[in-house]
Amino acid sequence: MRKKVRVALAGIGNCASALVQGTRYYSSATENNHGIGLTAYSLGGIQPADIEFVAAFDVTDSKVGKDLSEAIFAKPNNTVTITKVDKMDVKVTKCNVFDGVGKHLSQKLRISDRPAADVADVLRDTKTEILLNYLPVGSREATQYYAKRCLDAGVCFINAIPVFIASTPQWQNAFQNKNLPCAGDDVMSQLGATVLHKTLVKLFVDRGVKIDETYQLNMGGDMDFYNMLDDERLEDKRISKTKAVAAMAPYEIPMRVGPSDFVRFLENDKVCYISLKGKYFGNTPIELDLKLRVVDAYNSAGVMIDAVRGAKLALDRSISGPLESISAYCFKHPPIHMSYSQAKTNFLEFIEGKRDR
Ligand SMILES: NC(=O)c1ccc[n+]([C@@H]2O[C@H](COP(=O)([O-])OP(=O)(O)OC[C@H]3O[C@@H](n4cnc5c(N)ncnc54)[C@H](O)[C@@H]3O)[C@@H](O)[C@H]2O)c1
Repeated sequence: MRKKVRVALAGIGNCASALVQGTRYYSSATENNHGIGLTAYSLGGIQPADIEFVAAFDVTDSKVGKDLSEAIFAKPNNTVTITKVDKMDVKVTKCNVFDGVGKHLSQKLRISDRPAADVADVLRDTKTEILLNYLPVGSREATQYYAKRCLDAGVCFINAIPVFIASTPQWQNAFQNKNLPCAGDDVMSQLGATVLHKTLVKLFVDRGVKIDETYQLNMGGDMDFYNMLDDERLEDKRISKTKAVAAMAPYEIPMRVGPSDFVRFLENDKVCYISLKGKYFGNTPIELDLKLRVVDAYNSAGVMIDAVRGAKLALDRSISGPLESISAYCFKHPPIHMSYSQAKTNFLEFIEGKRDR
């Protein structure tokens, strides 16, 4: 019998929608989907459809109390639909809001007036093994609440957002002391701005270019980008995105990297512009400008499927504390930064049981 993984979702926005749909889309290997979009169809013996969603948390009136199969399509979610999702018999549970809804989101969402559940009780009742954190950027207090409840309930925490948990010694020790693994922080999209930008910087450096300056501008038309109009919530996102690129050069490069604007009609598409300027042979100039357009939520879903599969193997092998290889491969702000190719090598060695972190 194949391994099943019992997963809870915190934040039923576009990313959760893409992930749930993705596990259905890849429920069997067909000519259309085999070999497209996944690191591997089966990783460590686990296939996408082996991920079972057993609990879901949100705060929005349009999602709380609904079956997860309906909540993922509720407004203001606006990502594309790739498959039909049958009833899942998992109701979205109301959680305390904490700082999850900022001044911009509060104009777009109505908070459910149902009573908030204790997340640890729900995680225990549903025998959740792994919780995925998909809250809005800037949800520091709320993220810490979910991380603590995972510690209380004996659940692995995977953090898709730029609040620093898996990359912070205090939290690493807390998970280690409870013999639980954690991974994060801030999911690095499959072919998104970060992996592209860090790979380009590494390539320029490896090929002897001295980079003088670089920027990465990003825009989108979903609630993630609307929330990020609030500069006060952006501090950790800028740190996460900037460090991922800066870590690829042995010298300091003047750079500006981060979310840049909300463009409503882009919906869940994200447009990114990357520019690099430098000098190479004979001190002559070189410039590169590129544009990338992607469906943002789907860009993170395959990566999270890999992170879940890796974390399940860690649980089965009784590995605890921060999962370094998984985090370097799947996240922008991991405990240890690596080039993309190094991270992939380490990740696959971890999956094969050749390394324990
Ligand atoms: N490729 C990507 O899309 C990508 C990449 C990196 C990071 N991320 C991050 O992933 C996160 C999720 O992205 P998204 O597009 O799904 O966002 P979203 O705004 O669509 O969804 C966030 C959800 O969290 C809910 N929420 C707010 N406070 C909550 C609380 N206290 N408890 C439970 N739920 C709460 C909101 O109601 C909403 O449904 C964001 O932080 C985003 O920056 C996404």
